[in-house]
Amino acid sequence: MNILGVESSCDETAAAVVADGRRVISNVVNSQIDIHKVYGGVVPEVAARSHLEVVIPVINEAVEGAGGWDNIDAIANTTMPGLIGSLLMGSLSARELAIIKDKPYFPVHHVEAHVYANFLGDNPPKFPFLALIISGGHSQIVLFRDHGNYELIGQTMDDAVGEAFDKVAKIIGLPYPGGPSIAAAALEGDPNRFKLPKAHMQGKYDFSFSGLKTAVLRAVQDAVDVDHTYPSTKLAEKLSSKQQHDFAACFQKVACETLVDKLVLATEEFQPKSVVIAGGVAANQELRRQLKERLPIPIDFPAPKFCTDNAAMVAALGYYKAQKVTPTDPRHVEVIPSISMSETKWG
Ligand code: KG4
Ligand code: ZN
Repeated sequence: MNILGVESSCDETAAAVVADGRRVISNVVNSQIDIHKVYGGVVPEVAARSHLEVVIPVINEAVEGAGGWDNIDAIANTTMPGLIGSLLMGSLSARELAIIKDKPYFPVHHVEAHVYANFLGDNPPKFPFLALIISGGHSQIVLFRDHGNYELIGQTMDDAVGEAFDKVAKIIGLPYPGGPSIAAAALEGDPNRFKLPKAHMQGKYDFSFSGLKTAVLRAVQDAVDVDHTYPSTKLAEKLSSKQQHDFAACFQKVACETLVDKLVLATEEFQPKSVVIAGGVAANQELRRQLKERLPIPIDFPAPKFCTDNAAMVAALGYYKAQKVTPTDPRHVEVIPSISMSETKWG
């Protein structure tokens, strides 16, 4: 069964065709990173316009890559959560096409779809499994008992970890998106040069990353010898490239350790058959290194290109939904900018 996935929740317009939830036939991603880079972050109105310009060509390319519409059995589409204008551009197109081409339509949750990047390929996770979902908008540990049947174990109380990577990158003068630029700078830095704190949370599996971000800010102020009133946008100019690399390495190490500490604890308590990571930050190599070293069970990682936003993960989730739930009428769908995964169980 071939599913066409359509994704547009933030700043990537993506379409992909996946066979039987695991074999990627075509995968097209149009990233807006270069457009938003000049602003230092995603500008919602600009994102929506860019989606509008490219969404149909992106979908056409994915469908042609699979040999045309005759080879498409159903459409899966991200309708929640995300930027409302961005979600609408992909969703209106996907729904219109579902009507015109007469294909069953399945709305999917973006964060849940990230987890399904782990079902692509020949080695899918076994239930029950724990998922560490870490992106620009989310940091959570979720226990999956079956497809569509999951429980939130812990989550961030403030910033998402990807958001912390992006904010720290800004403080130390590295380009957007912060995750990949911090990872690259960290390769040349000393991860033990500055001491940064780990947050202690009341909830055993909850996270907090805003304190770590502020700790980096204070340490940078100290390192360049200015007080707290000095404009944070001007701090980076005062850092040497050695200091910049060291801050990147120290922040990355502690942020990853914080995630791994909790995931190791949860693995010991819940004894899952598999553990997976998902979302843009899951592309991080230092995180992967620490997980391989510390997790009590073996772990496989999705290809980095399926960790950041893409539509193959959406199509993979769509396939499992198509086995269990009836299609949704594309005329009666609303996009939802903010909704937790645990409110959308379907299994
Ligand atoms: O999943 P994603 O593409 O979009 C959201 O759903 O948010 O995640 C984007 C986030 C950004 O914060 C970006 O800085 C981070 O993922 N990211 C990384 C890496 N690649 C992307 N963070 C750490 N290391 C990376 N290699
Ligand atoms: Zn995402």
